[in-house]
Amino acid sequence: MKNINPTTTAAWQELAKHSKTFQDFNLKEAFANNNSRAQDLSIEQNDFFVDFSKNLFTKETQQKLINLAEECDLKSAITAYFNGTAINATENRAVLHTALRTEDVSTGIADKVTAALASKKKMFTFVDGINAGTITAANGKKFDTIVNIGIGGSDLGPVMIYEAMQAYKNDLTLHFVSNVEGDHVEEVLKKINPETTLFVIVSKSFGTQETLTNSTTIRNWFKEKVSTEAVAKHFIAVSSNVDRAVNFGIDQENIFPMFDWVGGRFSLWSTVGMSVALGIGTKNFQNLLDGAQEMDSHFKTASFEKNIPVQLALLAIWYNNFFNAQSEAVIPYTQYLHRLPAYLQQAIMESNGKSVDRNGNPVSYETGNIVWGEPGTNSQHAFFQLIHQGTKLIPAQFIAFAKAKYDHPDHHNKLMANFFAQTEALMNGKTQEEVIADLKASGKSATEIEKLAPFKVFTGNKPTTTLLIDELTPRSLGKLVAMYEHKIFVEGVIWNIYSYDQWGVELGKVLADSILKDIENDKYDGHDASTRQLLQRFYQKK
Ligand code: F6P
Repeated sequence: MKNINPTTTAAWQELAKHSKTFQDFNLKEAFANNNSRAQDLSIEQNDFFVDFSKNLFTKETQQKLINLAEECDLKSAITAYFNGTAINATENRAVLHTALRTEDVSTGIADKVTAALASKKKMFTFVDGINAGTITAANGKKFDTIVNIGIGGSDLGPVMIYEAMQAYKNDLTLHFVSNVEGDHVEEVLKKINPETTLFVIVSKSFGTQETLTNSTTIRNWFKEKVSTEAVAKHFIAVSSNVDRAVNFGIDQENIFPMFDWVGGRFSLWSTVGMSVALGIGTKNFQNLLDGAQEMDSHFKTASFEKNIPVQLALLAIWYNNFFNAQSEAVIPYTQYLHRLPAYLQQAIMESNGKSVDRNGNPVSYETGNIVWGEPGTNSQHAFFQLIHQGTKLIPAQFIAFAKAKYDHPDHHNKLMANFFAQTEALMNGKTQEEVIADLKASGKSATEIEKLAPFKVFTGNKPTTTLLIDELTPRSLGKLVAMYEHKIFVEGVIWNIYSYDQWGVELGKVLADSILKDIENDKYDGHDASTRQLLQRFYQKK
């Protein structure tokens, strides 16, 4: 990978100059002046249609951004990413979540693909056995409930996919326990019958405080309710640390391997997806992988101009580095994707929330941005006010599916009408003249109009990208998630940061361990006055 400070490239300088010309850029005028703007700035890739044209950029900008990608040698970075080069250099690891969704063993990563296929086969055999009722609970009954115990990448991806795939779920009921909070555990335990529940402990390290604490509490509860002997049949583990999982009491046969060349937040395609595979079946899970594979191949082969992840990433850089946008919103117009923003928060912010470049030097430019969102139309009744009329620039991605899962045309047309209306309104805004005309038409007096008009004006010109996908299926969901994975990668390449470690999270883990000892011993020396008073108050009140 080329190690280059992006701000030193000619393209960056060009973009900086070019961005100044955008002070008066008006999206409405851009469309009026160019009949082919919508087509020129859209990409169709089978069932995906991505319209970038409501963004504050032009074909010229696009070319300059592509120049930036080329100067940062994105092409060879993509090759290094897919061929298993240790691009996670601070941990000396390859980044090969893409190897989990291919069957091509003719490449230089054949060993990884072969290992991934073997682990998938083991997982699928197990999943099919549970779903067919040939692998049973200790009492011989069919399992009817799954509890996934994991956090971060061992939770967010599986939850997001499972929620998104509700229309594909089988008769198993899934629960997810992630937070190290006894109340969270209790609320799940209340709902389940231990005799017919399978517990899936997902932890790459098998050393994460939250997951181990929850697993221990649940195992103790299970022993009390059922028996110690039944633990081996009711607890399985997904981990790359077999010894720790065995020590915990998991039958070696029921430990499903994870690989150190797959990062936690990119691992839902692996055995980390065990609970999802159980809940939607192996056929649907395979379709999810196939969809991701389709996006991998699009990303690898499409020109930068027609490459969806590349264009999404370049636009994010454009706003982040040349417009000082701090965040981007992701607004799925389907309740099925209600956990997508939370999943993306880990994927994007844990990856690109870095301030040191690949030489170990502090960066002099902005890197990873904040991602947030909620499904539409709910979000329209919540935070859209700020996007429409606030002071911050918030580029937003709007995602919707042309076909609904169930036949309610009235609902779906209304949902989609809102979807289209919002991006149009964000772009067009409402001028003072339009506001005055409306107020006049509604019978307001001249004094009232003068008073009210300023509050009703919308400046418009708010950038959005629209992703219109044919239908939410396991395959299209796989494509969508892989699209974001590659967007993250491109951003990291251009910002010249390491996207695949997470040292910032490690610090938090160590700090909590030391405070825990202080809480247990009721001793607070060595802390600042604020922390000390808070710890003392906690001790008195708990
Ligand atoms: O949040 C930090 C992190 O290391 C994530 O990257 C990972 O997904 C999560 O913790 C859980 O780790 P593990 O799977 O090892 O329990």
